[in-house]
Amino acid sequence: MMSKTFYVIHGPNLNMLGIREPAVYGYETLEDINAEIAALGKELGVTLEFFQSNSEGALIDQIQKAYKKADGIIINPGAYTHYSYAIRDALASVDLPVIEVHLSDIYKREEFRKISVINPVCCAQISGLGKEGYLLALREMVTKYAL
Ligand code: DQA
Repeated sequence: MMSKTFYVIHGPNLNMLGIREPAVYGYETLEDINAEIAALGKELGVTLEFFQSNSEGALIDQIQKAYKKADGIIINPGAYTHYSYAIRDALASVDLPVIEVHLSDIYKREEFRKISVINPVCCAQISGLGKEGYLLALREMVTKYAL
């Protein structure tokens, strides 16, 4: 059987992890986090494709690319979470299981972060578990959503 493929998509400013507000987001870089997700992917026998962009259009292009190529999407859309109807529509278009991940707890911060416009098109949201959120998302994706 062909191994399943999952897209791991990181939105704006997540390329600044390690430097960006470490009290909120920690000291690990995106590369460090991706390496841990990749190690788990190997253990689970799945193929992962990583992508980061600061641009809404590039994120949408990557989501569209997942159509018929991926079995699910794990996405941290950064601040786009709170207002990008275009990213929400792209996720709804590709008809794949999507898990939304946030490093910080978006419900314990500023008011504007408490709204996720992408949540209604996702199977699950993980918020506030740091990088563990991605690992949990991948495990859940493999065992529950992308069957
Ligand atoms: C974030 C939370 C967002 O509100 C913020 O804009 C980010 C990161 C998180 O991972 O906690 O860029 O998605």
